[in-house]
Amino acid sequence: MPTVLVSGASRGLGLEFVRQYAADGWSVIATCRNPDGAGALAKVKGRIRIESMDSEEEPSIAALAARLGDTAIDHLINNAGISSPRPPAGQPHPQSFGLTNSEDWLRMMRINLLGPFHVIRALLPHVQAGQRKVIATVSSRLGSIALNKEGGMYAYRTSKAAVNMMTKSLAADHKATGIAFIVLHPGWVRTDMGGTLAPLAPEHSVANMRHVMDRVTAADSGHFFNHTGEELPW
Ligand SMILES: NC(=O)c1ccc[n+]([C@@H]2O[C@H](COP(=O)([O-])OP(=O)(O)OC[C@H]3O[C@@H](n4cnc5c(N)ncnc54)[C@H](OP(=O)(O)O)[C@@H]3O)[C@@H](O)[C@H]2O)c1
Repeated sequence: MPTVLVSGASRGLGLEFVRQYAADGWSVIATCRNPDGAGALAKVKGRIRIESMDSEEEPSIAALAARLGDTAIDHLINNAGISSPRPPAGQPHPQSFGLTNSEDWLRMMRINLLGPFHVIRALLPHVQAGQRKVIATVSSRLGSIALNKEGGMYAYRTSKAAVNMMTKSLAADHKATGIAFIVLHPGWVRTDMGGTLAPLAPEHSVANMRHVMDRVTAADSGHFFNHTGEELPW
């Protein structure tokens, strides 16, 4: 069976990716910052290898790549990401024009942009050794410049717009490898990040994103897909 690596597998969409791939019999490499604290992940049954990886720490990514040795990876899913906590009703958003601060912004860039970059660079040989050759980064429609009519969310939006641009460069630089580098919008999903008002269940969003990844080929490299499969504008 194929192998998938999922980052940020302790909860939310990452945990759901692990559940679904494991249930289908895939070998799953589930990475998280703190394996000892990932109780829900530890309970998932299947061929799951839990590995420590903090996408904010480049040495932690390099150490993971070294531990994986010559393991081939079919689907690499850069899922780990952060935003700021949602403000209570009636309070201004922490990423509004007036409240955005440099420290939080830079941390979001390190985790949402540099994390995926270093993971891809470290694990490229593993994906080249795989059969499917898909590298998907979970971005957001909030990173679409064309779709931004509402404004705000400066840090999160720019981190996701940047990871979208990174994906275009990766697709161009590595065209000869046959790897499909794509970005995915999961929809607005009921996770810690998405909150309880989100319309989509993680099960639904992840099933859809898996379907997109199953269908993509090298010809789709450098494209931005909604979880429902249609292309989104940059
Ligand atoms: N939910 C939505 O509506 C929505 C919409 C658009 C895009 N997204 C994107 O979807 C992805 C998953 O989001 P989610 O909703 O599942 O969020 P979530 O429930 O907040 O889970 C985030 C995951 O990322 C991990 N993470 C955070 N910082 C990390 C770091 N430095 N290194 C490694 N892992 C780290 C967390 O690990 P810990 O448990 O260790 O903190 C957790 O496993 C993110 O990239 C997010 O931007 C979500």
